[in-house]
Amino acid sequence: MRDKIDLIKKELANISVSTAQELESFRLTYISRKGVISNLFDEFKTISSDQKKEFGGTINQLKQDVQTKFKSFSNELSSKESNETHYSDVTLPDNINKGSVHPLTQVKNRIIQIFERQGFNVSDGPEIEDDWHNFTALNFPENHPARDMQDTYFLKKNPDILLRTHTSNVQTRLMEHGTPPFRSIMPGRVYRNEAISARAHCFFNQIEGLYVDKGVSFKDLKQTIYHFATAFFGEGTQIRFRPSYFPFTEPSAEIDISCFICGGDGCKICKNSGWVEIGGSGMVDPNVLENCGIDAKEYSGFAFGMGVERMTMLKYQIDDIRLFSENDVRFLNQF
Ligand code: DAH
Repeated sequence: MRDKIDLIKKELANISVSTAQELESFRLTYISRKGVISNLFDEFKTISSDQKKEFGGTINQLKQDVQTKFKSFSNELSSKESNETHYSDVTLPDNINKGSVHPLTQVKNRIIQIFERQGFNVSDGPEIEDDWHNFTALNFPENHPARDMQDTYFLKKNPDILLRTHTSNVQTRLMEHGTPPFRSIMPGRVYRNEAISARAHCFFNQIEGLYVDKGVSFKDLKQTIYHFATAFFGEGTQIRFRPSYFPFTEPSAEIDISCFICGGDGCKICKNSGWVEIGGSGMVDPNVLENCGIDAKEYSGFAFGMGVERMTMLKYQIDDIRLFSENDVRFLNQF
């Protein structure tokens, strides 16, 4: 028995394992039910009680040693495997930049936030529109020169279908499908058949606003725009309404704010006038309300529209509208 134990101890001291196969054969040889240790215990049963006293502790110790060895072999092997199989790709660039929110989206979100605080919700409408919702319902009579204010892309096969020229189409859709009160802003992309330059593009973004309820007046329009202008451009910003014409509002007004660059003294941005234009507005024309099935004797409302590109260009002093759609990361990284 002693010789046997000594031999096993010697073997164990010299054994090493470097593959999964070798580990398995170690397990079979020493630990399995027909393995060396198990045999040793079988033999142990047959020896005299004197010998049992002598070898009992040694055999138990041997069993533990074998198990500890198996565990450490298997740990070594699995850490070796994970090092070998999960190597990193050295050709991968290690400074991958995450994208950022486009400046137009940032400005749009900020505008939405300001109006939401004044109780406006956000509405959406189609970019491919019919003549009724983009023009006729908004009081642009057929063949009226007012339609020339907005150079339109029509579908060749069906000139009743067009790319919306303004987000005012969402006003009509909102009003014809609901009942007042409405207090909504409508952001979205619009299209015009314009030559592309630093100041104009064939597509751009607008935000439309509409408030219709009983007793809405020009005072409400002024207050709403005033709040917006001070929140967006800063405390102390002044607003001014200049008489204008839009078919869907009466009276209509262009909205100016005091130049936030020079404070009204005159500079390049405001072309020395001290004022910059931010959009159009007015009281919803009763014809528009009636076209959308709303009783104009009971309800009144105001509407406004502004360009997101224009607001962004003013805020960040960007002088070329084309930059927004060119995807040049040197430009976009600055926001
Ligand atoms: N739809 C006009 C445009 O694209 C902007 C506008 C002006 C919208 C006055 C309005 C408004 O709602 O009341 O030029």
